[in-house]
Amino acid sequence: MVIAGRRGLAVDAVTSEALTGAPDTGTTDRIAALSAVAAAGGEGLARLAAADPALVALAHRQRERRCRQLNLVAAASPTLPAVLAAGALGFGAVTAEGYPGQRYHSGAETVDAVERLARARAELLFGAAHANVQPASGSAANLAVLYGLLGPDDTVLSLELSHGGHLSHVSGAASVSRRVRARHYRVGPDGLVDTDAVAALVREVRPRLLICGGSACPRAVDFAAFRRAADETGALLMADVSHVSGLVATGLHPSPFDHCDVVTTSTYKQLRGPRGGLALLGARSRVRAADLDRAVFPGFQGTPDFGAIAGKAVALRHAARPAFAAAMGRVVRYAGLLADALTGRGVPVLTGGTDTHMVLVDLRHAPVSGRYVCDVLEAHGVLANRNPVPDDPRPVGQTSGLRFGTNDLAFRDVGDDLVTTVVAAVAGAVAELAETGDQARCPSLAVLPDLVAEVASRGYREE
Ligand SMILES: Cc1ncc(COP(=O)(O)O)c(C=O)c1O
Repeated sequence: MVIAGRRGLAVDAVTSEALTGAPDTGTTDRIAALSAVAAAGGEGLARLAAADPALVALAHRQRERRCRQLNLVAAASPTLPAVLAAGALGFGAVTAEGYPGQRYHSGAETVDAVERLARARAELLFGAAHANVQPASGSAANLAVLYGLLGPDDTVLSLELSHGGHLSHVSGAASVSRRVRARHYRVGPDGLVDTDAVAALVREVRPRLLICGGSACPRAVDFAAFRRAADETGALLMADVSHVSGLVATGLHPSPFDHCDVVTTSTYKQLRGPRGGLALLGARSRVRAADLDRAVFPGFQGTPDFGAIAGKAVALRHAARPAFAAAMGRVVRYAGLLADALTGRGVPVLTGGTDTHMVLVDLRHAPVSGRYVCDVLEAHGVLANRNPVPDDPRPVGQTSGLRFGTNDLAFRDVGDDLVTTVVAAVAGAVAELAETGDQARCPSLAVLPDLVAEVASRGYREE
């Protein structure tokens, strides 16, 4: 919290005035002027309804569904309304390749300032030596690094996909694996990464790049230990904190920035931002800012989406606020409640618990797959996702794992009593499904729709 407060002041101090030299006038007139161009405003919506009624009908249906759902998808956080509005202000209509002050197109003066604003906020929020805010997604950030910083003879060492890694960490299923050589480390029987074993693998493989972090890692990553492993042979170290960037920003997860050369993240998973990614450099990175920038553009992408960059700027400012830090505290606390409720009902969770927002249910010995439980929960208003567990005996379309996350719940305007009740009902439903294999014999399911409706009827806090 203290970290968030200090960083919050610094992030707030970065104004568009400081970046552009243009005087900062009042906002009231600006809002009136902008509402004429904001597609999110009434006029824009009326035009959309006339131009494409089918799409408006779908948007309406999606909104209705959201009002009946509890989102426990780990890779999601509720996009800030201000982020959605920023994306609709028209910045996205500007075409300008390159970086601020060095564009290949004219007319980029304002978007230069938008990009500088986002970059400065990212650097201050995370304590990064450099931020590239252009990646179109977390995957794009990772692939830009892989294609841009590695040579043809280099090898990557990363967490195996089925053990919690990610496709863009050179999994065999991703096309990058045809261009970049990779070896993978795995988690042990306790579900944890043994960093001594990683260090031994580093000595054997001699990778150019060691990647830590992943998609299904409920425990905090020990970046210092990964640094020591990378230092065995002088490998570069990259952390992918897509899932925990909100916790990192608020000091509730160890920071990779003192240990890693490169840090990547998505901006929508925990930061409440737009679809997009960030590629950042650690405080003592051996990668030069110019090389990282070149890896993103022209190395991997073309014109950036300035609407998304504007949204990233908004989300990064919000993430420096005490209210965001308080929400991250709830994220971790609620995940702990869910893990305890599941284990208390006899349902094993990987690693025995969580340090983050994520809880991974282990259904290896249950008569039902992750997919079955996920589908039954969705039919009762609860969203999660099926996920492989290490050495999963079931095919990837079924899986023996179920992944929950508490980001959305933590931003809801609900009190601890309701959260405890909902969490107990979800855990009860999973436990009954895992025991009986038959949704007809699961009384906990019956209470879910009303509880979900109660939670969904509450809005999000501090918006
Ligand atoms: C660890 C990790 N990195 C990267 C990504 C990809 O992020 P994006 O959807 O922004 O491409 C994901 C999401 O699935 C992820 O879990």
